[in-house]
Amino acid sequence: MAAYIPRYCFIALAAILLVSLVVGARGKKISFSEKVVGTWVDASATFYGDMSGAETMNGACGYGDLVKQGYGLATTALSTALFNNGLTCGACFEIICVNDPQWCIPNAGSIIVTATNFCPANYSKPHDNWCNPPRKHFDLSMPMFTKIAYFKAGIIPVRYRRVNCARTGGVKFEMKGNPNWLDVLIYNVGGAGDVTSVKIKGSRTGWIQMSRSWGQNWQVGTNLVGQSLSFQVTTSDGKMVGFDGVAPGNWLFGQTFDGKFNF
Ligand SMILES: *[C@@H]1O[C@H](CO)[C@@H](O)[C@H](O)[C@H]1NC(C)=O
Repeated sequence: MAAYIPRYCFIALAAILLVSLVVGARGKKISFSEKVVGTWVDASATFYGDMSGAETMNGACGYGDLVKQGYGLATTALSTALFNNGLTCGACFEIICVNDPQWCIPNAGSIIVTATNFCPANYSKPHDNWCNPPRKHFDLSMPMFTKIAYFKAGIIPVRYRRVNCARTGGVKFEMKGNPNWLDVLIYNVGGAGDVTSVKIKGSRTGWIQMSRSWGQNWQVGTNLVGQSLSFQVTTSDGKMVGFDGVAPGNWLFGQTFDGKFNF
């Protein structure tokens, strides 16, 4: 009796194998996401601007109206050591105030901010050079700083780690520049958040590697006016997402297109 295994048992076994393979693949995706989440590192933090966050708009990452673009006031400027010449723009950081009973708000928990600006070094300043290399420093928006510390603190010790960026909707592509020099601002990027490579394809071209002009503005010296456009965007964790036919053939400079997908 035990030696006789009906056919449906094999079918059931095959089904179980298939399900475990699919679940296994999903599991890989989860561990991939965990790769973005870094270990806690010591740094310091200050704030710039006021509670309105007006000064945080139009920063060195090339983003404009941060509220319209979905970042809101949950943003930070990075010191040279963290900014990576703009490549870190769009990355998300979880930050906690530590080891400062006087200025850390008790049980404040953590904040999550997106890198949207640069805190420049000042080598002629004799002291308080928090943004000079090799210091890891966050110059936060005031609304974010005051969630974890009393504003009178001025500067606080913090601990931070990289985290996945949670975004609503698809990656956005804003067309800038002119017919001879297309500049595309890429924003609202989820996952790792920081774009490290972009390829563009017109309906009458092959894939063309774009170069980074500044912040998250990516440029190409090919006239693509009148062609529908597709993109391949890669983030710092090596993940690449393709965006086919994002802009129709009649796209115009100044327009923003929704990639519909995200990382
Ligand atoms: C750098 O620091 C010096 C001395 O405090 C100051 O006069 C100057 O305005 C600062 N430069 C910038 C670009 O902030």
